Parts: sequence; structure tokens; C-alpha cells
Amino acid sequence: MKQQQTGDMKMWGGRFAEKTAASVEAFTCSVHFDCRLYRHDIAGSRAHARMLARQGLISDEECRLILGGLDEIEGEIERGEFVFRPELEDIHMNIEKALAERIGPAGEKLHTARSRNDQVNLDFRLYLREECDRLDGLLAELQRSLVTQARRWRQTVMPGYTHLQRAQPVLVAHHLLAYFEMFKRDRQRLADCRRRINVLPLGAAALAGTGLPIDREYVAELLDFPQVSANSLDTVADRDFVIEFASAAALIQVHLSRLAEELVLWTSEEFAFVELPDAFCTGSSIMPQKKNPDVPELIRGKSGRVVGHLMALLTLLKGLPLAYNRDLQEDKEPIFDTVDTVSASLALAAELMAGLNFREEKLAAALRRGCMTATDLADYLVRKQVPFRQAHAIVGRAVAYALEQGRDVAELSLVELKRFAECIEEDVFAVLSVEGSVNSRNSLGGTGGARVDEALAQAESEI
Ligand code: ARG
Repeated sequence: MKQQQTGDMKMWGGRFAEKTAASVEAFTCSVHFDCRLYRHDIAGSRAHARMLARQGLISDEECRLILGGLDEIEGEIERGEFVFRPELEDIHMNIEKALAERIGPAGEKLHTARSRNDQVNLDFRLYLREECDRLDGLLAELQRSLVTQARRWRQTVMPGYTHLQRAQPVLVAHHLLAYFEMFKRDRQRLADCRRRINVLPLGAAALAGTGLPIDREYVAELLDFPQVSANSLDTVADRDFVIEFASAAALIQVHLSRLAEELVLWTSEEFAFVELPDAFCTGSSIMPQKKNPDVPELIRGKSGRVVGHLMALLTLLKGLPLAYNRDLQEDKEPIFDTVDTVSASLALAAELMAGLNFREEKLAAALRRGCMTATDLADYLVRKQVPFRQAHAIVGRAVAYALEQGRDVAELSLVELKRFAECIEEDVFAVLSVEGSVNSRNSLGGTGGARVDEALAQAESEI
């Protein structure tokens, strides 16, 4: 007869004759990172225990003991007193074992009709549901600082770019509100992803459901899930909700990275459009004159890891047969790092944008060069019945003439302009001015002052 290993306290000890190798324990252990799920694991266990009692699978007294024990364990973890044991693998078994040691046989009943496969899925859904809400709050904060700045710089005009070449004048407010829209879509994506996170997986058990008389709907009600998952195999194998979250988060970080890139460009002497607060910059250890935009650079740089985590998760799922596979334990670290990185970047971006100062004299100087009202001149000719393609060619010649002399097309005299098109009159100068150009762009969604005022009012009503 085989000897029972008394020193081995594994949950599966019954079937095993040998102790787990130390190298295997170290390799498979996840408690050093999944301990982050302790609150969600305990919340899930509370609901599960209450359901077991309601169904007569445990007694009310056993349920009371379980709930009391879980409260104590939660308190200990919160106070940093709980000792996590790596040999117990993960957060689920650490808590379950501690409970059994505390309250005896009642604790050993908690895992009735439950597997770690549906348990870990539940914990992760509870965790991500919360994180969606927290990220939504951070996005709203960033939107608020963008709107405040758009209001503050409402009268300021800047060059708008395509191909990073000066294109047409736009209001600074219009540019800032472009990011407001991106972050608005990010919030919508999180809300949409949250709807699919918000489905109760518990009760799928290991993979096939359970023969014990559980009540999944009651657990869903206790944990505030509006829906119960449909297929037990899909439930324990599903990490779509994790990938959707990682994808929404990657897009947030990519949006932040685009904003950060603009700040890096705009703070350079070549642009000199903005000044960042000193508190958000760092100097150089060798060059005394330097003031570097490290915060936007790091926000931009950190997009690499967030996008990488999304790739890691997609690759993790690819080719996994149904149902649960241990591979799935690898979904936690990429998500935890994603959450930390995106949260920190969002918070910093909000602070950074709130402290941003535009350098109006530099913007005005940039607007004087680049013939940015050339399209306005072509539109002017169109209003005088010149076909647009001809107008385009005429203005092209006027631009070439102006540039040859190192002037802007807006600086040409009426006599000079008339050489390109006889129909040009004195009223052309209103069109060639930066203000005239901006204010004429009143098509829906355009940079015209009236449109931007509407957009600002709309944005302010939303946040
Ligand atoms: N630590 C595991 C994970 O994160 C929990 C589920 C383990 N299930 C199992 N049958 N080994 O996925």
C-alpha cells in the first residue's frame, strides 16, 4: 500500500503518491500575481456559499461560518497580514485552504459544485468589470481637461496639418476636441466590452456543469450579473472578454500616444507651439539648456507594451482546444500590466493637458507662412463661377509666384492677384485672412467658430 504524504497538503493529494517537484511548483505557481484578485475571489465565494445554503447543499450554520471566515481572511489580506503560500499555487486555493484551517469541515464544503475553472473566470470578470468603470472615470477626467483647455483657447488659431505639412488654419479648440471625440469612442468601446464581461460564468463547473442542484440565477442576482452564460464548455474556455478589454485598452493607449507625439513635436523649438509646465519635464545630466518632454515620450513609448499584451493574448487563445487549459493562467499578467500602464498614462495625460500653455505669438508666426489660405482663394474663385479645377490651377500659379519671392499668397496685392484671375476684387482679402478662413468653415463638423462653439457646448453637456 502506498503511503499518504502527510507533509503534502495539495487539494488533489488523494490521487498522488509523490510530492510535486519544487521546480514544478515554482513554474506553475500564480499566487504572486493572481493575489490581486483576492477581493473578487472572496466576493464570488460569498455568493456561492449563500446559494449552496439556499439550495440545502450546506447548512445555514456552515454558510455563516464560511462568510465569517471569508471576512476575516479578507481583512487579513487588506492589512497585509495574510501569508500567501506558493505551494498552494493560486489565490483560489490559498483562500480556500486558509478558510478550512480556520473553520474546519464547513470550509471544505465551499468548493461544492464549483471548479477553479469557472471560479477563475468569475474572478476575472468581476475584476475587469470594475476596471472598465475605473478607466471610464479616468477617460472622463482627461476629456474634462481637454474641454477646459478648448474653452480657454477658443479664440486661438493654429496651423492644421496633413502629411505634417501646413494645410489650413484651424482653431486650437477644434484640434483639442478631436481628441475629445477619440476618448469618447474609447468610453463607448469599454461600455460595450463591459456588457460581454457582465455575464455569470459560475456554475459551468470544470467544463460540463454539475449534477448538484445549484441555482445559477440566484448567484447572478447576488453578484449583479444581468445574464448567465449559456454553454459550460464555452464558459470555462472563453477569454474573448479579456481580449476585447485588451483591445479597447490598446486603442486608448494608441490615442494617448498620438496626443503625446503632438506634444513632443509642439514643444520642440522647430514648432514651439506649446509650453509644458516645468513639473512635467526633466532636464539633461549633461546639457544645461535642455527641457525634455519625458512624460509624453513615455506615454508614447508605453503603447508598445500595451499593444504587445493584446498580441500575447490573441496568440494565447489561438489553437487552444476546448475547454479549460492551463495556458489560460497566462492571461493575468498582460492584463494587470495593461491596466496599470493605461491608468497611469491616462492620469498623467489629464494633468499634462490641464497645464498646457499655447504660445500664441508662435502660432501666429507659423500661420503667416505656408499659404494656408490658398484653398480659400480657390473657393473664392468658385463663388465667382470659376470651375474648381481651373480655380485650383490658378491658385497654384499664384502660390508659386508668391513663394518665389518668399511671400505668402495672402501677402500679394490686388494688382498682383488680378494677373492670375481678372475676377478677383478687394473682397478677396477677407477670404485670405486666417480668421476669414477659419470662420468660413462652417460645414457640419468644421472648424468654423460657430461650429466649434456648438461642439464645445455639446462636449460640456456630456461631461
Ligand atoms: N490558476 C488557474 C488559472 O489562473 C486557475 C484555474 C486552474 N485550474 C486547473 N484545473 N488547474 O487559470
